[in-house]
Amino acid sequence: MATLIPTRETGATTKPTEHIYAVADAIVTAELQSEQIALDGVNVPFLADLLSAMLAHERCGVHLYRSVAGRTGNAVLKRKYEEFGAETLRHVEILEELVTSMGGSPSYVSPMARAVEGADARILESTFMLAGSLDVMTAETTMLDAVFLAESVDHANWSTMGELVSELPDGAMRDAAQRAVDEVEEQEDEHLSWARDTRAKLVKLRATTEVLPKVGATAEDLIAQVKSWFD
Ligand SMILES: [Fe+2]
Ligand SMILES: [Fe+2]
Repeated sequence: MATLIPTRETGATTKPTEHIYAVADAIVTAELQSEQIALDGVNVPFLADLLSAMLAHERCGVHLYRSVAGRTGNAVLKRKYEEFGAETLRHVEILEELVTSMGGSPSYVSPMARAVEGADARILESTFMLAGSLDVMTAETTMLDAVFLAESVDHANWSTMGELVSELPDGAMRDAAQRAVDEVEEQEDEHLSWARDTRAKLVKLRATTEVLPKVGATAEDLIAQVKSWFD
């Protein structure tokens, strides 16, 4: 089963820096990474750190989709959030398998991964920040924006990985990376194009719909309108 939040308890390791302390058995160094994985002509510590960062982004994606699927008031959006969330969970597993097959640990959290986690936590937070002070329609738009932002990075990660694979030396590692890209890349195309198109659709829909001009519109009226989007 995929690990969604690597912590000391789940065996997480990291590369300590001036500002990051790690206990002795949780320390990973570039030298250690180079010893664990033999790939000629490849900056192995960088590749290991990059895969950890991609993994962090997919893990945060699972949290984001769970959160927005649970809060949206629109059935079409909910279905997609659930579908893409399930695929994102599979992406976590695929990356964990890839890292393991390389001789690395899926519990390793690189400095790059910690930065990604920081950025992704803010994206999720942005959908809550004004909760209560946002009308339901704006809240929906904010959640869709968050998905679009997250999927933009996700798509860039995998298309870059697709390009990178062809530059890796022939061998089992390259084959494993290619299999991962083959399974994921098409889904990332769909995730990003859906988020972009739906965002555009929603903007146009809202811009051209006269919203409850009558005085005395209730919150229930707004909720009903959100429900009817994309019907
Ligand atoms: Fe993904
Ligand atoms: Fe995605």
